[in-house]
Amino acid sequence: MCGIFGYVNYLVERSREDILNTLLAGLSRLEYRGYDSAGLTVDGDKTNESYVVRQVGKVAELRSLVNESGFDLNRKFISHVGIAHNRWATHGQPAARNAHPQRSDPSSEFLVVHNGIITNYAAVKSILESKGYIFESETDTECIAKLLKYVYDSNRNLDFKKLIELVLRELEGAYAVLVKSVHYPGELIAARKGSPLLIGIKSERKLRVDFVDVEFPEFSVTTEPSAYSGLSDDEEGSASGVPTISMSDMTLEPPNPAGLLRTSTALLGDGGLFVPSPGISDLRHSQSRAFISDDGVPIPTEFFLASDLPAIIEKTKKVIFLEDDDIAHIYDGGLHIHRLRHEEGVSNIRSIQNIEMELAEFKRGGYDHFMLKEIYEQPESIVNTMRGRVNFENQSVKLGGLSNYLTTIRRSRRIVMIACGTSYHSCLAARDLFEELTDIPISVEVASYFIDRKPPLFRDDTCIFVSQSGETADTLVALKYCLERGAMCVGVVNVVGSSLSRLTMCGVHINAGPEIGVASTKAFTSQYVALVMMALLFSEDRMSKLQRRKEIIDGLGTLSEKLSEVLELNDVIEETAEAMKDKTKMLVLGSGYQYATALEGALKIKEISYILAEGILMGELKHGPLALVEKDLPIVMIATKDKLYDLVASSVSQVTSRLGEPVFITSKNGPRLIEPTKASTDGKVAARAESDYVKFEVPETVDCLQTILNILVLQMLGYWLAVKKGYDPDFPRNLAKAVTTR
Ligand code: F6R
Repeated sequence: MCGIFGYVNYLVERSREDILNTLLAGLSRLEYRGYDSAGLTVDGDKTNESYVVRQVGKVAELRSLVNESGFDLNRKFISHVGIAHNRWATHGQPAARNAHPQRSDPSSEFLVVHNGIITNYAAVKSILESKGYIFESETDTECIAKLLKYVYDSNRNLDFKKLIELVLRELEGAYAVLVKSVHYPGELIAARKGSPLLIGIKSERKLRVDFVDVEFPEFSVTTEPSAYSGLSDDEEGSASGVPTISMSDMTLEPPNPAGLLRTSTALLGDGGLFVPSPGISDLRHSQSRAFISDDGVPIPTEFFLASDLPAIIEKTKKVIFLEDDDIAHIYDGGLHIHRLRHEEGVSNIRSIQNIEMELAEFKRGGYDHFMLKEIYEQPESIVNTMRGRVNFENQSVKLGGLSNYLTTIRRSRRIVMIACGTSYHSCLAARDLFEELTDIPISVEVASYFIDRKPPLFRDDTCIFVSQSGETADTLVALKYCLERGAMCVGVVNVVGSSLSRLTMCGVHINAGPEIGVASTKAFTSQYVALVMMALLFSEDRMSKLQRRKEIIDGLGTLSEKLSEVLELNDVIEETAEAMKDKTKMLVLGSGYQYATALEGALKIKEISYILAEGILMGELKHGPLALVEKDLPIVMIATKDKLYDLVASSVSQVTSRLGEPVFITSKNGPRLIEPTKASTDGKVAARAESDYVKFEVPETVDCLQTILNILVLQMLGYWLAVKKGYDPDFPRNLAKAVTTR
């Protein structure tokens, strides 16, 4: 995954220093998406010249290189296009030559930043090489830049949009790209397919979006937000600080029978609509025009293009999310969105959304790392997930986005949960409760394996897709597969406006707030709470479950307080991490509801501390993993009180008798785990009492909610192990926040 950022100022005077600072600030906010190298390009001093700076390392290193570049920083630009990129290597190792922007030729006629993977790049490259092009990098992106030049050189009369259209038609795979060219000064092309891209718009004056007569053969006029719980107003009291999107309820005149849209106007200041033209071959006059003053004169405007909201939210709250196959062309202060191809079911409307989110929500706020901040946010983030949805007085759950689909879901013959990594673990954690409350067969699928298998799927299946980012490629491909088979597709997503939230039929936003740390923490607990709410909602017509539902809803009501109590263990967890930091391997054992906790805890520990941590089901211990247990092997045993407690106690004895070093997560005032007499096997080893072992005592809650308290301990343990070993937990090696490539 990579982060891309672009900045266009039109009739707004900016010094080169301002422009560079804007690009670098945008990149820093996207650093979680990739941080092995970074680069940018701005206009040079001469006409038809671009300056390019690229560097291995983080944005700070790029900034140093920019500072040393000797550029005239005071030079003013009334209109200018700059593009920038954070890279997470997929093709070619981290190296300056592989950093973006990638260029078409030594004089950088075309410069491209790209997120995604061009799957047919080898074929494109070999054709271009046969025509004399010399490639300088190992990236797939370079073939885009070189193909642009090749097509341009064969017909110099093409406008920029037509040129990119011809190039994109030759490419396969996924992309979000920004393109700048000396042949089209002041113009920027942005296009997406399979990778996220959004455009923020800022103007000092109220803007008008004008739609000139355009043919829309299959034009849709609705501006209804998609059915998503958390976006609509029908859930009371969206918490302050919880991301919401307000959308205009404006509708345009319906097209006349011939499909001709009459001129219509929307005010951007009030939220608005943007209508892409359907084809590429049309002339400029037949495109939708945007951002003009009342007297038709272009007015000062700035555009911020980015892979994700944190990069632009400081600059503007007015945002358009591009859809797959959109090509955005910015020139003369106007934004023109075209479709690369017409596709059934893709709306011709792009809403200008007003994002009510503050930059502070993306900042570290006094914590050393985002991960720690996000761990500490959980008592609040789970409340935000439940806000306006769980009514503790009348014991009910309401998820606005799902209300029209409940009958279909309850009648499903099967529920299939599909996700990757941590999100997969939240599905696994929720499976038992779904089975118990709904009596519908549930299967839980790792998205990548699901796609590899292509299992049978039917119209009366409900598929639940869980994703923090909403951009995980494996999950999106699985979603496409399920949509094609007519299954009911429901999303559970954190990032508002993400691909998953737009492509699913309905869903729930988990409202955990931005998660920046690469290791997912608060998204896991909020996903789990969202899934618990769904299970409660799906079973509200079942009288036999009334008592159990009441117990769980009461449990949800006290969860936040109990999470705060668990956070008080931070110091003792830090001390334990200090003592454990030199260990190279570790087991994490859990049973029942705590199996998923063990898997997720082990994932947290391994991904940031690089200790080989393995999550194991206690019942499986004696079927193999017990062979690993030896003196001093640290074994985290999740031993909180529940109905499987006897199994837990027996696993504890299997471990202690082999002299493994258990670290317990237990219930406060829970039953004894080790009987004093059983602490040694053969009398040769001095018996150890329960109090000799490290024990993290957490408050007790309903069995199915205990995961949320227990995982906090493992998140903190993972965090402190990484810090004690000198690693940056926010930037684990080789990983990125959203995996937008397969
Ligand atoms: C681990 C982690 C990953 C993600 C996985 C899916 O801490 O964050 O395992 O959970 O890549 O990402 P999303 O949830 O964005 O689909």
